[in-house]
Amino acid sequence: MSSPVHNWYKFTAGFSYKFVDIILDGYQPENTVVYEPFAGCGTTLVECQKLGFRSVGNESQELMCNVINAKLNWTIKEADYKTAIQNINQYVVSNKDKKETADKFHPLLVTLYDNPSLRELYSIRDGIHEIDNVELRLFFNMALCQTLHKSAIHPIAVPYISRSKFLADSGHALEKFNKISAQMVDDIKKMPNHNRLATVYNWDSRIENSKIADSSCRLCITSPPYLNNLDYGEVSKVHSHFFEMTSNWNDITEKVRHKLVTGATTHYRETDFNLDVFSQSEFAKKNPVTMKELVVLYDSIIKNAKTRKGKKSFHILMMHYFEDMYKVLKEMRRVLAEGAEAYLILGDSAPYGIYVATTQFLGDIAMNAGFREYSIHKIRTRGDKWKTLSNRHNISLSENILILK
Ligand SMILES: C[S@@+](CC[C@H](N)C(=O)[O-])C[C@H]1O[C@@H](n2cnc3c(N)ncnc32)[C@H](O)[C@@H]1O
Repeated sequence: MSSPVHNWYKFTAGFSYKFVDIILDGYQPENTVVYEPFAGCGTTLVECQKLGFRSVGNESQELMCNVINAKLNWTIKEADYKTAIQNINQYVVSNKDKKETADKFHPLLVTLYDNPSLRELYSIRDGIHEIDNVELRLFFNMALCQTLHKSAIHPIAVPYISRSKFLADSGHALEKFNKISAQMVDDIKKMPNHNRLATVYNWDSRIENSKIADSSCRLCITSPPYLNNLDYGEVSKVHSHFFEMTSNWNDITEKVRHKLVTGATTHYRETDFNLDVFSQSEFAKKNPVTMKELVVLYDSIIKNAKTRKGKKSFHILMMHYFEDMYKVLKEMRRVLAEGAEAYLILGDSAPYGIYVATTQFLGDIAMNAGFREYSIHKIRTRGDKWKTLSNRHNISLSENILILK
């Protein structure tokens, strides 16, 4: 969070750019293109560009693609920035006393910002909209995304809105926006080279992306969603509602959740799942050994669920998750050249106290998706902070690097 550009967007699921550095250390920029199927807030792509490597990635959330594109554009000129920021401020001032169209404010945001700040936020948004230059619009929308985090009454993404906590320094949206934008321009000046070396597609990595050629990358550095019920649609809903990409639960399901690897029980309808039908899927047929083990876990999770509060369908979630990841791994294999390596940061899981060796399963599934060899390197133990919860399992979980060859 203290590294320039990387710290432009507070993203719960982001990983450390230093991880990318360590891996890139063994590669040459001249003959390496890096693939990132889960671009997130762009850590891999930004770090590759900083170090002079070409990279290409997919991210299925439009909001996050905008964030990444803003973080990758280091050609903003100071003079253009100055003119635009003046215009935005003028726009906000001249709209200040306008009779407010309060119904323009999304009801969720009304509960998260004081009224003067909310007026300023919407006014800044509309002021940015008047700018002709796409790159400048992305740049200022990025600054506005950060302002949404910093001026809220409650933290809005830890990973979800945390109404029991209060931000000490909430409000003052315009002032914060100006400060954040100025800092961003300064950060750009610190970037080592200003060439654009990375491309991100607003694309679902489970599906073949024809814009990325077969065997075009030598390395993959990524962190897929974990099997831990984190709902990315919920994580980004304050922003996506504010920018009018979504407006309610259904919208989030259609426009966000359905384009993501199934990682939360909110992504599907339980009644749509049938184990017999699933057993006939390509995934089940190509991964017979894994499938057999998953069915045992599926039954155990159902059994344990009966003794737990909250009837979540983790058994179904698990099946969808591995099927989706099989598709992602197949596409990854297509994009990677012979001899390439893939580094995936992953967490193990224990839905309703049943241990699922997620990393190992994905290693096995990768073998059936065209990879030749895998190894697992444990980075840390995780989940300990939940140990005090009375219904929490006491299985030790870990975060791992899965290396595929
Ligand atoms: C764990 S985060 C990646 C974090 C990233 N390494 C970073 O530092 O920001 C997973 C990301 O994958 C995206 N995602 C999930 N399913 C996807 C899919 N099928 N295709 C493309 N992106 C997807 C999510 O929107 C989320 O931003």
